[in-house]
Amino acid sequence: MVHLIRPMEKGDLGQVNVIDREAFPSQWPPPSYRQELQNRLAHYLVAIDDSRTIAPTAEKPAQKRSGLKARIMYWLKRGQSHDEPKSTEPKQYIAGFAGIWLMVDEAHITNIAVAQECRRKGIGELLLIATVDMARDLKANMMTLEVRASNIPAQNLYSKYGFEKMGTRRGYYLDNREDAIIMSAEDINSAAFRERVEKLREALIQKLA
Ligand SMILES: CC(C)(COP(=O)(O)OP(=O)(O)OC[C@H]1O[C@@H](n2cnc3c(N)ncnc32)[C@H](O)[C@@H]1OP(=O)(O)O)[C@@H](O)C(=O)NCCC(=O)NCCS
Repeated sequence: MVHLIRPMEKGDLGQVNVIDREAFPSQWPPPSYRQELQNRLAHYLVAIDDSRTIAPTAEKPAQKRSGLKARIMYWLKRGQSHDEPKSTEPKQYIAGFAGIWLMVDEAHITNIAVAQECRRKGIGELLLIATVDMARDLKANMMTLEVRASNIPAQNLYSKYGFEKMGTRRGYYLDNREDAIIMSAEDINSAAFRERVEKLREALIQKLA
């Protein structure tokens, strides 16, 4: 499998929304990646599995909601322009995505998510490395994020790359009042952080080859 990273585009939103719902089912309301693409603070990337494509008709619709949630979604989406005309061309297969918000010299990781069927193959790492590269290109010095206290896979991923636990936000997640762990890489331009990422990048290149 060949993986490519590129900026997220409007035509990716169908697949991105499906991955988001699968990865963060309890987040309500779901984020609007359509709005994020217009947010000048936000920068999003997608990981493409270049060994496969997806037929436009095979794109899974985001989970259907009924009742009150469906009415709220309808109301929230009123007035939004809808997707560009549907193409019949096969589309690139999106295996995952990640994004940051850049505030002065701080890059806040908003999300990293990998499609369930593509997990544990190094794509989360690929996205994290690309996000660090992008943050450096945007002149950030520090990276930070919040992660659920119970989300051990994500905490392990960030710890592997030198992110440290800096504190806790009590009851941060509204669905179950779970705590958020704040994790940060204080200086992504330091020699020590660069060396760590470069070693891991090399190891990942071997793994994905
Ligand atoms: C967290 C997530 C992005 C990891 O993506 P992935 O492609 O499966 O991860 P990778 O294969 O690149 O693994 C990289 C590292 O993450 C950690 N990790 C990933 N999955 C793990 C698991 N199930 N259990 C423990 N550690 C795990 C490990 O440290 C791993 O390194 P290793 O292979 O040397 O053990 C993915 O599980 C996901 O999309 N989860 C749902 C969304 C989410 O929680 N995002 C984070 C929000 S802050």
